[in-house]
Amino acid sequence: MLPARERLIIALDVDTLKEAEILVSRLQDHVGVFKVGMQLFNSEGPEVVRRIHRLGGKVFLDLKLHDIPNTVGQAAAVLTRHRVFMYNVHIAGGAEMMKKAVEKTVKEAGEAGLPRPLVIGVTVLTSINREILNNEIGIKTGVEEQVVKWAKLARESGLNGVVASPMEIGAIREACGRDFVIVTPGVRPAWAAVNDQKRVMTPREAVEAGASYLVVGRPITGAADPVDAARRIVDEMEEGMKC
Ligand code: C5P
Repeated sequence: MLPARERLIIALDVDTLKEAEILVSRLQDHVGVFKVGMQLFNSEGPEVVRRIHRLGGKVFLDLKLHDIPNTVGQAAAVLTRHRVFMYNVHIAGGAEMMKKAVEKTVKEAGEAGLPRPLVIGVTVLTSINREILNNEIGIKTGVEEQVVKWAKLARESGLNGVVASPMEIGAIREACGRDFVIVTPGVRPAWAAVNDQKRVMTPREAVEAGASYLVVGRPITGAADPVDAARRIVDEMEEGMKC
C-alpha cells in the first residue's frame, strides 16, 4: 500500500505560475501529487506541468476531457507526452471514448518509452444532486446508483479508476474491487472550514472508507502554515490506514 503522503493530492487552484511554484516548492516534500485544473492550465498552459516536474512534483491534470472519441484520443496522446501522472475524462462521454483515451495513452507511452498515466473517470459531479440528475440531465436514477453504474463502465472500458464523492467510496469499492483507483475530493479535517463543499468526510474517514487518493485544496493552500496543515492531514490519513 502506498504511504499516506503519496496518496495526498493538492489542488493548485490558483491563476499564476508564480503562485503555483511557491506552493509546490513548499509542499513537494510533504504531499504526493499536484492537481492542475482548468483554472491554472487555461491561464498558464503546459508550462505549468514542466515547472512542477522541474521542482520534483507529480501532476494530476484535471481537465475532464469530454468529446468525440477521436478528439479525446488525440488529447490523451498529448497529455501522455506531458508525462502527467494522472489525467481524467468524463465517463458520460461513453465507453468508446474512454477506450480510445486508454488506447492512445498506452500506444503513446509505449512508442515514446514514457510512463503510462493513470486514466481516471469523472462520475457524477458532487455539485449534482438527484433533482438535477433526474430533471435537468434526464438520468432517472439515484446519484449513488448512477455513480456505481458509471464506475463499472469505466472499469470495463479500461480506466484505472474514478473521481467520486467520499459518500460513494464504499459502494464503488464493493462494485469495482480492491485495485480500482478511487480519487476523492470533498475532504475536510475537523479543524478546517468546510467552504462550499457540502457532503464532506475527514481524511481519516475517507481513507477508512477505501479512498486511494484524497484531493485537498483550501484547507492546505489557504492555511497560514500549509506545510503544517499537510502534515496534520497525512497524520490523520495514517490513522485511517491502521484500521
Ligand atoms: O479547496 P477544496 O479542497 O474544496 O478543493 C477541492 C478540489 O477538488 C477543487 O479543485 C475542486 O474543483 C475539485 N473537485 C471537487 N469536487 C468534485 C470534483 C473536483 O471539489 N466533484
